[in-house]
Amino acid sequence: MSDERYSLIDPTSARRLELPVLEPTLGPNVLSLAGLYSHSGVFTYDPGFGATASCTSNITYVDGEKGILLYRGYPIEQLAEHSTFIEVAYLLLHGELPTAEQLQAFDHSIRTHTMLNESLLRFFNGFHHNAHPMAMVSGVVASMSAFYHDTTDIQMEHDRDVFAHRIIAKIPTIAAAAYKHSKGQPFVYPLNRLDYCSNMLHMFFSVPSDSYEVDPVAAQALDLLFILHADHEQNCSTSTVRLAGSSGTNPYAAIAAGISALWGPAHGGANEAVINMLEEIGSAKHIGKYIARAKDRNDPFRLMGFGHRVYKNYDPRATIIRKMCHRLLEQLKASDTPLFELALRLEEVALRDDYFIEKNLYPNVDFYSGIIYRALGIPKSMFTVMFAIARCVGWVTHWREMVADPGTRIGRPRQLYVGPPSRNYRAIGEREEAA
Ligand code: SDX
Repeated sequence: MSDERYSLIDPTSARRLELPVLEPTLGPNVLSLAGLYSHSGVFTYDPGFGATASCTSNITYVDGEKGILLYRGYPIEQLAEHSTFIEVAYLLLHGELPTAEQLQAFDHSIRTHTMLNESLLRFFNGFHHNAHPMAMVSGVVASMSAFYHDTTDIQMEHDRDVFAHRIIAKIPTIAAAAYKHSKGQPFVYPLNRLDYCSNMLHMFFSVPSDSYEVDPVAAQALDLLFILHADHEQNCSTSTVRLAGSSGTNPYAAIAAGISALWGPAHGGANEAVINMLEEIGSAKHIGKYIARAKDRNDPFRLMGFGHRVYKNYDPRATIIRKMCHRLLEQLKASDTPLFELALRLEEVALRDDYFIEKNLYPNVDFYSGIIYRALGIPKSMFTVMFAIARCVGWVTHWREMVADPGTRIGRPRQLYVGPPSRNYRAIGEREEAA
């Protein structure tokens, strides 16, 4: 807490309100509103929480003006260059980069907890074959609370660790089972000898009738995408996990709530929506029409993969993924170059347009990621599931920080009520039709 005070004059009583100022390690100062209502009788109003810090956290820092993203203080560019997803998962969970022994032990624990209870696997037979994989994954993750209630005493550090390793290890297996169910193919068991991303590709693409070798280029591309998607401070789905978790609910249920929040096209569902948009645009000659639609306030169409609540500069993750697209499409000799060329052209036209410049709308993490997933052979319907697998590490990390914080209280926002004042009940014969 700094010695600074922020003074406000309460217009209703002309009283001075002194608000304590909290100083962060990085980023803007924060006014503490704790006690504001009890001292002044007023609420604050911030729909969408655009300027509201919901918690203190030492996990991830985003500077939207400068396009900076740090995981536990390490720049995303350096982690993308030098680290692996499993090492980043350890960093996020524990706050420090692991020693060789710590990494080996963590990697071994994850590799040896990837199998699902066989009864859980039978859940998939209950889904229609064309169920959206996000519906299947959120449903099966929520049902894990019916299987693993032996270790969900969230006040116990041991139980919190078991939960963290279990969900991080098993969510790729659940995702692969959803994919195989949607293809009508047999489920493929995980192999402990494979690393996290190679195992995922094995469970997705191998079939009993043929041999399958994981392409190391594809595994490495997936690993990099997962590093970039692992966490992003208090985004919509992470805040959902924190809010659900603040009631003390089963942690698997809190993660399932995060998966549901991520699914929306304004959030993690944007990667699937970007590909749908590019396919609808079809060719560069139609770009102008769609840019015009995106600018038209009467048209609900938005340029998917563009804009961000926090980044008013280039999303550093989009920069890394765009570079990766170039390299990967060449290495994989993928046929998706027209879609990538169209995306590059669309970005070029948008970033020259005054509307996008004035509103600081830049490509975000979702703009190019779908092109890479497609090049890896992953279908559109699975794109947000891939995002969920990676973000599960961030969700678990924030959930653990929230549960371990003695200052945590159940999240319960207030409101600006604009409904009818108190009124008396009227018998049905005395009612006239509402206008
Ligand atoms: C993710 O929060 C995170 O950290 C999220 C994420 C993470 O890692 O967890 O980074 C992942 O969710 C990335 C965002 C993926 N979503 C999309 O790409 C969908 C398209 N983008 C928009 O829907 C929008 O930009 C949001 C939802 C991302 C941000 O919405 P905001 O902050 O509420 O911004 P806004 O809607 O208030 O937009 C400000 C203005 C508006 O115009 P005016 O009302 O001021 O005239 O910009 C316009 C918007 O109409 N605008 C767009 C636009 N995005 C914003 N106009 C056209 N196309 C767009 N994409």
